[in-house]
Amino acid sequence: MYKYRGVKISIVEGDITKIKADAIVNAANNTLLGGGGVDGAIHRAGGPTILEQCKKIGGCPTGEARITTAGNMPSKYVIHTVGPIYDDGTKNEEQLLYNAYYNSLKLAKEYKLKTVAFPSISTGVYGYPKNKAGRVAIRGVMDFINNENDIEEIIFVLFSKDNYLLYKELLDDELGD
Ligand code: APR
Repeated sequence: MYKYRGVKISIVEGDITKIKADAIVNAANNTLLGGGGVDGAIHRAGGPTILEQCKKIGGCPTGEARITTAGNMPSKYVIHTVGPIYDDGTKNEEQLLYNAYYNSLKLAKEYKLKTVAFPSISTGVYGYPKNKAGRVAIRGVMDFINNENDIEEIIFVLFSKDNYLLYKELLDDELGD
């Protein structure tokens, strides 16, 4: 567990649908109509009310975030964000991934949420290299804490041991004592 300007930052290896936070973040696509990966897991675990609300929202541009209920999951909300599809790093992928983290936290703040759990956005189907993506994730979270801090805890939920160890290494570098 790490602390940055009073905010707890933790890393967990596991399934984000099982995490109890004010909001869990979904790595969605622009239609918000579900998919595979963590998107599929969240819709399966949360139930149909999530998709019903997503249909009313009508989509989400890459790098932005939208919020729905978490349905049957232990958290209160799902913040759906859309990361970039990684091409070769010259198509503004880094800024769009940064925006996905930053805008998810801005939305959490609007809803006065205190604990937010993130998966490793864009590093599955969307092909973003995990260690580049991890650095962007941590930078986006730390910048938000510097600029608009209202969050009490950020949890990075990694679905594999190697991604967990990568984030641990990155956070030890940034925040380790
Ligand atoms: N809990 C936490 N992390 C998970 C889970 C889960 N239950 N399932 C998968 N992951 C991890 C993956 O291992 C990967 O590290 O989430 C990360 C993001 O992978 P994807 O879910 O494939 O998301 P992304 O790469 O952003 O691609 C988004 O995939 O599922 C579709 O509809 C989605 O079109 C969108 C695209």
